[in-house]
Amino acid sequence: GSAHRIAVIPGDGIGPEVIAATLEVLDVVSAAHGLELSFVEFDWSCGRYRAEGAMMPADGLDALRAFDAILLGAVGRPDVPDHVSLWGLLIPIRRAFRQYVNLRPIRVFPGLDSPLRNARPGEVDLVVVRENVEGEYSEVGGRFNRGFPDELAVQEAIFTRSGVTRIVDYAFELAAGRRGRLTSATKSNGIVHTLPFWDEIVAERAARHPGVRWDQEHIDALAAKFVLQPERFDVVVGSNLFGDILSDLAAAVAGSIGIAPSANLDPTRTHPSMFEPVHGSAPDITGRGVANPVGAVWSAALMLDHLGHPEAAADVLAAVESVLADPSTRTADVGGTASTRQATDALVAHLSR
Ligand code: NAD
Ligand code: IPM
Ligand code: MN
Repeated sequence: GSAHRIAVIPGDGIGPEVIAATLEVLDVVSAAHGLELSFVEFDWSCGRYRAEGAMMPADGLDALRAFDAILLGAVGRPDVPDHVSLWGLLIPIRRAFRQYVNLRPIRVFPGLDSPLRNARPGEVDLVVVRENVEGEYSEVGGRFNRGFPDELAVQEAIFTRSGVTRIVDYAFELAAGRRGRLTSATKSNGIVHTLPFWDEIVAERAARHPGVRWDQEHIDALAAKFVLQPERFDVVVGSNLFGDILSDLAAAVAGSIGIAPSANLDPTRTHPSMFEPVHGSAPDITGRGVANPVGAVWSAALMLDHLGHPEAAADVLAAVESVLADPSTRTADVGGTASTRQATDALVAHLSR
């Protein structure tokens, strides 16, 4: 169908700034493609936490359940500890709705300078497939002997056969539909239980995807190769933490974390998926009107694609490409002179042609 209900959580910092821009873009693109998008906004944020003691209401997840998708800006504010804001909102949504794939594509766009002299437009086009519900992000562990000299902290990383298998299969299938190359991020030389298990499952699943050429790299060497030869990657699959780190790195290779999008997907479509920029609430630039809206706007394109509207998504990406190509319509983080307002106007103008 063409009617979709979207839950919108602008969040904190530049979250509301980039979400406002994204809603303007969605209005024009949905009109052009005959889509009926309806939006319900939720004020869940650090502001709400400070006022009411919780990032979201106790039945917050139930309120989201009925939506077709969730669009999120960013959460986190300097006056609230990050583990409180993130484990009070973002991470529960990813987990409750079994959004086990965090898809983070990135490209070096024409006219946009990568900080790397070898990263030329059109050559760097990769997707980080991040495991999104287990791994290093776990509640298992604790803080002990607080205040004593032998104080310690323990945090377990959890890798399940089903959890690793499904993310690896997703990555192989994605690679099969792209350039047929998959790299698995590992550290099985240093971490002796979980990552050898990860590697074994990758090798097992590879046998079922003979059309995909695959390899594995230790995360340290892989980080170096992202910088030295980013064009060599197609799909890169990694655990929750490795995927998190690689996606910021890939975004920097492409010019700025401000352009990087992400889709938190429940591929079974039992629950709503969530779309959000890779970046955070950026307290250092909040309120100055300079945030790059592209990460959020590209995330909305991933949402349109997920909702079954690839042409609308392609139009949004074309607008992004044109706005990034021109220094007068791109923001300062990517070497431009535009404000968020001017970049948004340029996106809207491109889509209204
Ligand atoms: P960040 O992504 O917010 O900022 C890192 C740097 O990138 C900053 O210098 C910032 O100004 C710049 N930047 C980020 N987005 C930009 C944009 N759209 N345009 C231009 N520049 C941009 O990361 P951080 O500083 O580590 O985290 C700040 C807060 O955000 C913390 O509370 C953190 O926990 C939270 N955070 C939330 C999410 C999320 O909600 N998904 C993601 C990452 C960080
Ligand atoms: C991201 C963010 C979050 C993560 C943080 C804020 C918990 O860095 O979405 O990449 O690590 O998943
Ligand atoms: Mn991150």
